[in-house]
Amino acid sequence: MTARTALITGGTSGIGMATARTLHDRGYRVAVTGQRPESVARAREELPDDVLVLQSDVRSLAAIDELVSEVGEQFGSLTTLFLNAGVNRPMTLETWDEAGYDEVFAANTKGVFFTLVKALPLLSDGASVIVTVGIGATRALTGSSVAAGSHGAMLSMIPTLALELAPRRIRINAVSPGMTDTPMTRSSIRTSTDDVAGNLMAMAEQNPFGRLATPEDIAGTVAFLASGDAAYITGQEILVSGGAGLAI
Ligand SMILES: NC(=O)c1ccc[n+]([C@@H]2O[C@H](COP(=O)([O-])OP(=O)(O)OC[C@H]3O[C@@H](n4cnc5c(N)ncnc54)[C@H](OP(=O)(O)O)[C@@H]3O)[C@@H](O)[C@H]2O)c1
Repeated sequence: MTARTALITGGTSGIGMATARTLHDRGYRVAVTGQRPESVARAREELPDDVLVLQSDVRSLAAIDELVSEVGEQFGSLTTLFLNAGVNRPMTLETWDEAGYDEVFAANTKGVFFTLVKALPLLSDGASVIVTVGIGATRALTGSSVAAGSHGAMLSMIPTLALELAPRRIRINAVSPGMTDTPMTRSSIRTSTDDVAGNLMAMAEQNPFGRLATPEDIAGTVAFLASGDAAYITGQEILVSGGAGLAI
């Protein structure tokens, strides 16, 4: 049996880090990326010693080339690619500028797409690719228009990519978290109020299950999509939201 190997972009925090732990616990060799030196250093402290933690900015195609080369040297091939690195820049419509718009699309769309393109030679036949999208790509969340568009662009590529990858039996699916308690969510709240705990509680109360998603909720779905149990699933989006977004 081929060794199970996973590359997780944006694996130094939040959803990506929880997924690194979950896949590692299930016997995968895992590599994760982050862009900031401090998040990379913290992940090296917090993740198991044999998880490969690499600094790589998904907005740079040259950095993606280096990443693919390093992972190729270390792992040989990949059975799972989790394209999860992303940013949110909550802003009111009046405050958006070109630099902010370009940054969000560079990370959430261009970086995701080109990591897939450049990792193709490393992917084993039958590999699983999972892309983090988000409930906001198809439902409204005030202040997140550009993040919604950048993730939505990826979501709209998923069916076509699935057919393009099918000859190699490579599956590609999107996982769409609802509001998840991660550093990103907390720093987004901090842009408008100091009462982070109160805001988290208010958001939890609005959820049909009465709580926010944990990073582990999303990680479990990613692990399912990576596994043989999902061997015939491709081109789909799974919403992991505790029922948020279902009401008319
Ligand atoms: N949290 C939510 O409620 C929610 C909901 C829907 C969708 N999402 C999406 O889920 C994904 C993960 O979010 P999260 O909540 O887990 O956020 P997080 O805790 O902030 O983690 C984001 C990860 O992405 C990395 N990253 C950001 N920009 C990068 C870049 N240019 N190059 C490489 N890595 C980069 C970060 O590394 P650094 O720390 O080094 O920057 C970090 O490892 C994102 O795509 C986000 O949009 C989140």
